[in-house]
Amino acid sequence: MEVRFADLGLCLAGAIGDTVLEVAEAGGVAIEAACGGFAGCNTCRVRVLSGELSPCDPVEEPFLDSPGQRLACQARLVGPVTLRLDPGA
Ligand code: FES
Repeated sequence: MEVRFADLGLCLAGAIGDTVLEVAEAGGVAIEAACGGFAGCNTCRVRVLSGELSPCDPVEEPFLDSPGQRLACQARLVGPVTLRLDPGA
């Protein structure tokens, strides 16, 4: 499953069910994960440019400011997707 980081010019491979953070870390993309991947910060935030990720979890919603934003530690692959990093403060 293709995960393209448009702003970095990188394309990584992941499996359905992997989180975006897992794919990024395995591929050497440094996404800050201040809370360790437990939906407690928004430093891992990404923006979906095309494609789709797993449905947004209610625990994730308070961290998202606009449509297309997701937490990399919570959003899972369901198909090919193109993203860019969009970390929150
Ligand atoms: S790593 Fe903290 S919310 Fe994702």
